[in-house]
Amino acid sequence: MKLGVNIDHIATVRQARGGVEPSPFLAALQAQAGGADGITVHLREDRRHIQDHDVTDVQKVIRITLNLEMSLNPGIVKIALKVSPEKVCLVPEKRRELTTEGGLDVCANEKLLKRLMPEFHRRKIEVSLFIDPSKKQIRAAGRVHADTIEIHTGAYANASGARQRREWMRIKRAAKLATQLGLQVNAGHGLNYENVDKIAAIPEIRELNIGHAIVSRALFVGLKTAVREMKQAMRGR
Ligand code: PXP
Repeated sequence: MKLGVNIDHIATVRQARGGVEPSPFLAALQAQAGGADGITVHLREDRRHIQDHDVTDVQKVIRITLNLEMSLNPGIVKIALKVSPEKVCLVPEKRRELTTEGGLDVCANEKLLKRLMPEFHRRKIEVSLFIDPSKKQIRAAGRVHADTIEIHTGAYANASGARQRREWMRIKRAAKLATQLGLQVNAGHGLNYENVDKIAAIPEIRELNIGHAIVSRALFVGLKTAVREMKQAMRGR
């Protein structure tokens, strides 16, 4: 099970003062040293945290995979094709949200995704679609020839007790269906040191993308240790 570390919130702290500290690319190196398998950055349309130069700065220094999270905005797509990271994860984006609230509506964007997919594939960029654990969306992800889906685990993370068990079942069924359709399966959003092990135990899931919990823990133990601890938590320890 691979871990992609989302370092957006390192940039959030930097943007609070508009200076250069803390540096996202130094954070990426710390996460790599802690055992991260990839680094994720979300270049939002409003540039509220990650800036254009962060994407290329991080890309230059890491030897693990760069995953660029992005919306379908034409300007952002243009940047992504130019930067050509190993992976992109396509997400819906609203200006007023605090974080990505729901999955991408693949059905509603089917035409556009079918047109964009060869552009990414021509540059050998793996395309992941961030979607809710819904059969309809997974089937649409297959139709547009995505490589991967990232299952939105927010509803699972926000629930508890019987509701959380129901959400977990939905994710498990979604992961199975996606695998049957030939899609690779990742998951993420709202995962933390307590709730990650059950998601990591789903055999079809290949990679988790985690940001807020790791950056929060890093304030107390450092980023390298926070990443190492998350990898242990994923193994159920
Ligand atoms: N995956 C996607 C597609 C996301 O949008 C986010 C949030 O930026 C994450 C994973 C990580 O979520 P969190 O910060 O809650 O771990």
